[in-house]
Amino acid sequence: MTDNGMAKFGRDNFVQLDELSFEEMQQQYVKMAQRCKSLEQIIEVNDISRLGQLVGKYQNNSKELLKQIAMILPAVEYAPEENKELVKLLDYLEGLHEKLEAYVVKGTLPETTFDKTECFGEHRTMRTVSFINFKGGVGKTTVSTNFAYAIFCMLRDSGVRILFIDNDKQGNASDWFEADRQYGTIANVLMGDVPVRKVIQHTRYECIDLIAADTGLMEANAHLLEGENGNEAVILREALQEVAGEYDLCIIDNPPDINMSVLNALSITDDVIIVTFPEKDSLAGAKEILAHIKQVKKFNRGLTLSGILVNAFSGHKTVYQCIDEMKNKHLPVYRTKIHYADREAKNFLNVARQGKKSIFEVSPCCKVARDIFDFSREYLGIA
Ligand SMILES: Nc1ncnc2c1ncn2[C@@H]1O[C@H](COP(=O)(O)OP(=O)(O)OP(=O)(O)O)[C@@H](O)[C@H]1O
Ligand SMILES: [Mg+2]
Repeated sequence: MTDNGMAKFGRDNFVQLDELSFEEMQQQYVKMAQRCKSLEQIIEVNDISRLGQLVGKYQNNSKELLKQIAMILPAVEYAPEENKELVKLLDYLEGLHEKLEAYVVKGTLPETTFDKTECFGEHRTMRTVSFINFKGGVGKTTVSTNFAYAIFCMLRDSGVRILFIDNDKQGNASDWFEADRQYGTIANVLMGDVPVRKVIQHTRYECIDLIAADTGLMEANAHLLEGENGNEAVILREALQEVAGEYDLCIIDNPPDINMSVLNALSITDDVIIVTFPEKDSLAGAKEILAHIKQVKKFNRGLTLSGILVNAFSGHKTVYQCIDEMKNKHLPVYRTKIHYADREAKNFLNVARQGKKSIFEVSPCCKVARDIFDFSREYLGIA
């Protein structure tokens, strides 16, 4: 992008944004987000030739703001450093995106009601999805809890039933659901203390039930490790048989660890979703999980790596390199990426977690909310 292009688009237009009504701002914002996504995809597939086409499309379809963006697009120097320039452009658009986002704190989720049989089939038994990474703090709990909420929103009218299992002794998801530990926890199930039905509790969301967790999981894991029955890795599977017919989807939030309760989770899992930050050790982490999947496949043939979900995504070159590295090893990477939450979005995330709400209930239009919503649709095959 030329300095001239940047200056032309820069300060003046941000000032103009103040003059837009809230609804106009929202419309621009949604369009802007779509444009950014298109650009990301261009960079991702490295198909620079499509850029010209898209510029034409923007000019025909969009309002003033987007036309001005389009005006600066031809200023991108395609050669010899076309990727670098595009990444710079993307960064710039990201900045604009952030700026717009700061204005939009309200809004609603897109109207999306689907039939659950479209997603889970007519006579399917419970489909189970595990969010996993042996590395901590990569967003497993953030994504899995908000994913549960997004699916609840999309499918509640068709009577979807979701069972959420917190499989982490930290109990972060349980806290978020405001679990009542008096019902018991997953530790009780693994220890064989109580039938599974007893530890399932309703949550504030009418379609979502919960099996909570707490530090009792440490003892349960130690107990299973010492067990000699030979069924220590499939106790959860056996226990859940009793209720599997009552749910369409089971979502498991796993700890940053591999232990007996994680093996139990994998023994009932259909789809593994590796949540990862795009960092240099992401590939190694994914490979480690794959090795475990291979082992568990011996007693759960339905287990597959559904995909790698990139969290804290940005337009930086190193991020694209990391994603390319995983793709080059033929690892499935979800098309939807969860963007890195800037200060504003991070604030929404914190408010949501502290207030025990989903990000959608705090700021349904913020970047992270929209991405998790898109990801949920992609997972369900309705993207
Ligand atoms: N896209 C994002 N951008 C910025 N921060 C994020 C993003 N996603 C999650 N976070 C933040 O990262 C922190 C860790 O998130 P979270 O607890 O979901 O990770 P985790 O993988 O479940 O951690 P653990 O392994 O300890 O269970 C939280 O503060 C969360 O708000
Ligand atoms: Mg967690």
